Amino acid sequence: MSTASIGRLVPPRSVRITGWGSYLPERVLSNADLESIVDTSDEWIRTRTGIRERRVAAPHETTATLGAIAAKRAIATAGLEPDDIDLIVVATLTPDYPMPSTAALVKEAIGNTTAAAFDIAAACSGFVFGYAIADPYVRSGMARHVLVIGAELLTRFLDFEDRGTCILFGDGAGAVVLSASDEEGGGMAGLELTTDPDGAYMIWMPSGGSRSPASTETARRGEHFIRMEGRETYRYATRTLAASALSAIEKAGWTPDEVDLFIPHQANVRIIEAVAKGLGLPMDKMFVNIDKYGNTSAASVAIALDEAVREGRVKPGDKLVFVAFGAGFTSGAIALGWTADPADSARADGIEAVASVRAPLDWASVDPIPPRLAAALNDPHGPPVPLDDVVPDEPAADHHEEQS
Ligand code: ACO
Repeated sequence: MSTASIGRLVPPRSVRITGWGSYLPERVLSNADLESIVDTSDEWIRTRTGIRERRVAAPHETTATLGAIAAKRAIATAGLEPDDIDLIVVATLTPDYPMPSTAALVKEAIGNTTAAAFDIAAACSGFVFGYAIADPYVRSGMARHVLVIGAELLTRFLDFEDRGTCILFGDGAGAVVLSASDEEGGGMAGLELTTDPDGAYMIWMPSGGSRSPASTETARRGEHFIRMEGRETYRYATRTLAASALSAIEKAGWTPDEVDLFIPHQANVRIIEAVAKGLGLPMDKMFVNIDKYGNTSAASVAIALDEAVREGRVKPGDKLVFVAFGAGFTSGAIALGWTADPADSARADGIEAVASVRAPLDWASVDPIPPRLAAALNDPHGPPVPLDDVVPDEPAADHHEEQS
């Protein structure tokens, strides 16, 4: 293990995004598939949320492997090698384990030997909070290149008997590299972060922590799944997102109409429409891809950024705003100047969708896919399967071997 390269203390002229990348698992779960799991309809989901489909990670994938693939793509886009990264920040609410950090596993998976690595917990605002943590490391000279990853494997934390939540979320990861630059301008110009604990129990996972450690009883009651008060969360989001974005924009010394593109957290297209309305802007200023991936929590803004750049929606000199909200309640916005060449995206095209994380040889866990979801994936157009009739598969024989 080489020594960490963090802590140089030579402040640069600016801090810029030099790399971006994302990874979405191959398996698509459509609204029609969900009709076979819960009492819902494609029409309800589309009109109430804007979601048409979402992705589901394969059994061998974990949050760390999803994040590592996105990270390798971001590093390639930046024209860097893994060991150029001084710090790895992973934002996630679905870590591989409570400990070690998912960031430590990502570090191994990308082949970095020098970086410090840690996770942060700010739910769906996690990528914005992670960016806000990473930027000052580079700005102060403490680090030259920082990787910020949002990665989530939410489908393993959903109650597939609760139609209010299981239709919303999907799996995926996105990443950026923030780098020191000797040129002036670009990067973060305005930041707003808020946390409102009045909403602490509006989106939560009741068990698995110190307040209610995991037990047979908590598992039986499904307390390890995401619970959400949808209407209250919706109200908070529509109240807060436009205000957070506006605050970051004002701190940057801009006005909303000067912003070229907003990249909002993809939770519900109606929430994004409310943000546009609140700021007095047309919807074409809002990047939307929720139809394809659902809500990927901390990953959503980073995935959307990668797609926006690849689709030619972002060019050097543009003013962008990242804005997100999530459990906590948390909310955050970053107003930033874009400087990178969008054509650099092509550097990541050769990066394969493969990553591996070691697991102890003497350890095997259960099949990670929730039984009701597994049944729908195997027979997406079949009849609803009563939960009691679903027998989880035996753990794969090689599950405790290297995952790839
Ligand atoms: N299919 C069909 N009907 C449904 C479904 C479904 N999937 N879900 C709820 N319904 C029903 C309800 O039971 C209710 O029926 P009732 O009137 O007979 O009681 C009716 O539809 C209306 O329910 P509401 O909850 O009022 O529906 P709403 O229009 O508010 O939409 C939704 C629900 C989509 C969850 C919305 O409230 C929302 O998007 N909230 C924000 C959620 C969010 O963004 N969460 C992510 C937070 S980020 C993080 O940190 C994890």
